[in-house]
Amino acid sequence: MNHPPIVAVATDNRPLVAPIYQSVKFTFDDVVQTQRHSRGEREGFAYSRVSNPTLQQLELTLAQLQGRDACLLTASGVAAVNLAMLSLCKQGDHVVSFAELYQPTRYMIRRLLGRYGVSHTILSLEDIEGIEQLLASTPTRLVMFESPSNPVLKIADIGRITAAARAHGALTVMDNTFAGFHNHGQFDIDVYVHSLTKYAGGHGDVMGGAVIARQELIDAMRTDFIVMGATLDPHAAFLIQRGMKTYALRYERQCDNASKVARWLASQPGVARVRYPGLAAHPQYALARAQMHDFGTVVTVDLEGGETAVNRFSEALRLFTISASLGSTESLVQPGRLMWPSDLDAIQRQWAEITAATMRLSIGIEDVEDLLEDMRQALHQAGRAAPV
Ligand SMILES: Cc1ncc(COP(=O)(O)O)c(C=O)c1O
Repeated sequence: MNHPPIVAVATDNRPLVAPIYQSVKFTFDDVVQTQRHSRGEREGFAYSRVSNPTLQQLELTLAQLQGRDACLLTASGVAAVNLAMLSLCKQGDHVVSFAELYQPTRYMIRRLLGRYGVSHTILSLEDIEGIEQLLASTPTRLVMFESPSNPVLKIADIGRITAAARAHGALTVMDNTFAGFHNHGQFDIDVYVHSLTKYAGGHGDVMGGAVIARQELIDAMRTDFIVMGATLDPHAAFLIQRGMKTYALRYERQCDNASKVARWLASQPGVARVRYPGLAAHPQYALARAQMHDFGTVVTVDLEGGETAVNRFSEALRLFTISASLGSTESLVQPGRLMWPSDLDAIQRQWAEITAATMRLSIGIEDVEDLLEDMRQALHQAGRAAPV
């Protein structure tokens, strides 16, 4: 009794779409080849937590887009952030953190790295002199930062941060999720992390994360990642690879919509503040223009009337969904109370700039006139619209 034969596709007869290798295990014809593979003497695959062709395809795509040598994939964006930091730090190291960082990243640095003897200092992303002084005075292993920051869209001065880190022997790890793979590749950043759940997957139906860096750093982290085991599933990798086919089109349309939404909101009575790096009124507009190809797809808004107005506006919206996350084809709204920086002290909370009047809009690919019309009626229902 034999297993039925496996269909083999000749090497000169390739599928147009990279296939899913939805297999945990791979085999060789004999023990000698299996041993040669395990000693690293031949190419191939053995076990999908270690490597898998579908994952490797996605790794090549993402590394090339970000302009670096290599990539490691993880089951979520936070796994990418956390595994990179765990793998790069050891007891006694010091990390520079920011009040404006994504909250779970702050949690990881404070609670988890702290438990293993890694200290940290929290600064404001805007305090570039403070960052330079800290790096000059305190031996530091890594600087963990984002730009634009989530959710208030502050812009990091990447040139100065990376120069100071390089001068004082610290590594820079940038969460580049908001700006995307096509941005920030020109900077001397050591490690990029991305949540693939956002623009890469793009359709809100798959989670993943990526760490992208030069070969030597990826090689140094690889075994830790394999052993910690937060591997991406091949089916998820396939969906993300498919998402990447339309990444540029979606991102471009979302940016275009976001800039129109930001400009429209800035002209509305009842809107206290609009934060979008592409608005000339953004305090770091010149820096954003110099660093980025575009300005992202998130618009952060404060309404007059505080939390009540934000809640009414969010609930009155018909095309926007009240939801966490960003980068989907659909527009989303997240009230500030749901992003509350409860781990920060009073001064750090001022730096974080999230108030009960704040809300984050993640703009999708809908017809922008429909989005503006929806926001017009929601402002009206929230009692914030101009009298007609
Ligand atoms: C900047 C940033 N980094 C990381 C993550 C985490 O990604 P995931 O939800 O895929 O774990 C998010 C999620 O919102 C994010 O906004």
